[in-house]
Amino acid sequence: MIKAFLFDLDGVIVETAGFHYQAWRKMANDLGFDISEEFNETLKGVSRTESLERILKHGNITLGEAQKAQLASDKNNYYLQLVSQMTHKDILEGVEEFFAQIKQTDIKIGLGSVSKNAKMILDKVGLLDAFDVIIDGTKIEKGKPDPEVFSKGASELHLLASECIVFEDAVAGVEAGKRAGMKVIGIGKPDVLNEADWVIDGFKGMALETLISKLQ
Ligand code: G6P
Ligand code: MG
Repeated sequence: MIKAFLFDLDGVIVETAGFHYQAWRKMANDLGFDISEEFNETLKGVSRTESLERILKHGNITLGEAQKAQLASDKNNYYLQLVSQMTHKDILEGVEEFFAQIKQTDIKIGLGSVSKNAKMILDKVGLLDAFDVIIDGTKIEKGKPDPEVFSKGASELHLLASECIVFEDAVAGVEAGKRAGMKVIGIGKPDVLNEADWVIDGFKGMALETLISKLQ
């Protein structure tokens, strides 16, 4: 019995993944190296501090804690500049229509994002009130692929993992959902999200009934 859908934010509800990439890439370029889109794929769903660690390792750079804190803060400020222009029109195609279908049922809508900026972004695009529960980077200790963000979503809704379905665009996020004991629908490419139970390319034209029948 499906009782909740838990959505990731970046790359599932809004396309902020490109802004994260742009901001990290600027930082890497300032430090004298580049990061590819392929490498960026491994950062999706990963927390700010862990992303920074991975990028510095990739560029063979060792820094002290104070310098790392400064870089993370600079990256976030640049990211905030990039997202500051976001509006309602930046919601990914089909998301609102899909939410409207869910609202006609008893199925709950939850957010499971590692981002500390999640609420601000939902507010910008006008979706803050659409969620029954919001678990973001301020509420968790471990980023994806740890299952904490989704397990917490289920427990705040007083539901079992088996009653929740996760929507994820990141490899680390799919792993987090599976480790939480949930079925996971990947948003993206089947060859990248090969651990997902089913992969779709987005919500455009998605009928809730079709999706539910695929999960039986
Ligand atoms: C999401 C994104 C990651 C990002 C993380 C932390 O999981 O997929 O790319 O690093 O959130 O985001 P924040 O907004 O807190 O820096
Ligand atoms: Mg994502």
